[in-house]
Amino acid sequence: MDNLKTGEVIMKRRKELGLTQNQLAQSLNISFQAVSKWENGTAHPDIAILPKLAQELHTTIDALLGYNSVVADYDNRYNTEGYYWGLTPNLICYDVMRILPPIRPYRVLDIGCGEGKDAVFFAKCGYDVTAFDVSQAGIEKAQKLAGHNKVGVRFFKADVFDYRPDTEFDIIFSSGVFHFLTKGQREEFCENLKAHTTKGGINALNVFVKKPFIKRAPDSTRDENKRHPWRSGELFGYYHDWMFHVCKEEVFDCNSGGKPHQHCMDTLIAQKKM
Ligand SMILES: C[S@@+](CC[C@H](N)C(=O)[O-])C[C@H]1O[C@@H](n2cnc3c(N)ncnc32)[C@H](O)[C@@H]1O
Repeated sequence: MDNLKTGEVIMKRRKELGLTQNQLAQSLNISFQAVSKWENGTAHPDIAILPKLAQELHTTIDALLGYNSVVADYDNRYNTEGYYWGLTPNLICYDVMRILPPIRPYRVLDIGCGEGKDAVFFAKCGYDVTAFDVSQAGIEKAQKLAGHNKVGVRFFKADVFDYRPDTEFDIIFSSGVFHFLTKGQREEFCENLKAHTTKGGINALNVFVKKPFIKRAPDSTRDENKRHPWRSGELFGYYHDWMFHVCKEEVFDCNSGGKPHQHCMDTLIAQKKM
């Protein structure tokens, strides 16, 4: 067990819940010094206390131990020879190009870039691209793909839960990622992206939508608590004050993981007023 990591998770969750070290300690019937030692990494919680600690912090034992099933899942998919999602750019990339053609190196941010097919495509077209993903294996594949195509992309590993842009982008792009955001996080997250978009810039996003007649994809993330499909139309509502270029919902066939299945997806390309 990585003491510091576990301590960091405990402190983060405790603070998010607005608890003092003393309050957490009392609920566990231990001293606040014990909590303090966990948080500064000089000791780790006894295995017997983990279930109660996870319960008090509204989290899981996996998360307390720094294990993220989503990361492990995607690392496994990307630690292979081929490209799990193929190399064909997402069709939204072409819509983006029609709206903001690369007459100058517009700054693009690709959130959850996976193995980098879309980020590399944008870079090849002349955009100035920054891209991140939580999977290190994905980032390494993406860097290889950029090298192979002789383009530079600023790839880095980051978690959408912690990352917030510290600069403005002309184009913020994300495909197939936002279902990892919980319902409570989405509005604030979208508002933050909007605030970090230049005037006249665009956000091009798609989200998986829950429909009672579409079965769960066989290769979807196994951890039920980590997937939060969106309500039909929810994404559009967060951008009600921007101009819509593309706003559509569609059901499509998919063969990822080698098993045919369907998804329902809402896609939005919206532009911030000049
Ligand atoms: C369905 S794949 C889409 C990948 C890529 N956008 C594409 O279309 O090829 C979802 C991606 O989201 C990434 N992801 C999942 N949770 C994440 C998080 N918390 N922060 C950043 N990326 C995350 C996964 O590692 C994975 O690469």
